[in-house]
Amino acid sequence: MSENLLKGKRGIITGALDENSIAWQTALKAKEQGATFVLTNAPIAMRMGAIKELAEACDTIIVPADATSVADIEKLYDEAREYLGGNFDFLLHSIGMSPNVRKGKAYGDLNYEWVQKSYDVSAISFHKMLQVAEQKDILNEWASVVGLSYIAAQRAFPFYSDMSEAKAILESIARNYGLRYGKLKKVRVNTISQSPTKTTAGSGIGGFDDFFDFADIASPLGNASAEDCAAYIVSLFSDFTRMVTMQNLFHDGGYSSTGITQELIDVFVDRKTNN
Ligand SMILES: NC(=O)c1ccc[n+]([C@@H]2O[C@H](COP(=O)([O-])OP(=O)(O)OC[C@H]3O[C@@H](n4cnc5c(N)ncnc54)[C@H](O)[C@@H]3O)[C@@H](O)[C@H]2O)c1
Repeated sequence: MSENLLKGKRGIITGALDENSIAWQTALKAKEQGATFVLTNAPIAMRMGAIKELAEACDTIIVPADATSVADIEKLYDEAREYLGGNFDFLLHSIGMSPNVRKGKAYGDLNYEWVQKSYDVSAISFHKMLQVAEQKDILNEWASVVGLSYIAAQRAFPFYSDMSEAKAILESIARNYGLRYGKLKKVRVNTISQSPTKTTAGSGIGGFDDFFDFADIASPLGNASAEDCAAYIVSLFSDFTRMVTMQNLFHDGGYSSTGITQELIDVFVDRKTNN
């Protein structure tokens, strides 16, 4: 149902790979809520083709850009500004990738070149998007910039590897750029720390399915879906959250504040009884 929360707002949505992507769901929600935007993804993701369907559904264009390349981001902003006919009110950074996680490298056996790549793709690209935006003065007053994080930025998880540090950097960039951009132009910058979600990036993590089920019963509301996350992102793009900035906002069904749930105890007791 459309409440036209984003009526008249323009923006950029990165990271829609297929219909499971958080960014894909966000694009559909933003369209439903009256926004106009340009889609972008890494040139290699373009070859998979699915994003073209999304562009048709959202009546927009795709501008390929590698988010680690400042030149690509500059071109993206220029082309998007021309297509949309003005500066932007929102930017979504929905980008993550670790070669170490992808190739199953243990945390005690990291390839450090790949570590740099993980940080560059998953975190420094957020700074690049913000810095190029500032230098081009491409964001309107009260614009909203959102990145996607995970609780491994604060707590240790055995499977998240160098992505844990990447997310900690991402959240730090949100705070520090939020301070700067808030003073400069009232732009707000936040990260959303999302539940495990069955997407290409999520499922690439070892043992993901078991962990997904664990988090589901460790959260009083259960895991938050990509669609739920899209709705939360849209609320942060809207004028109803104008004074929220420099925050890492947990969107996880209560997981981050839970010690233990009865369901988890029951699983543990069952296991003890069956041994
Ligand atoms: N899926 C989860 O469990 C989960 C949980 C918390 C946070 N997140 C975060 O949500 C965000 C979106 O991931 P998703 O789960 O929707 O998975 P996804 O695989 O659908 O999206 C990740 C996107 O990053 C893009 N990307 C990778 N390298 C890029 C580059 N160099 N330039 C531009 N784009 C590039 C990919 O093409 C892809 O579209 C990521 O930051 C991810 O870490 C995911």
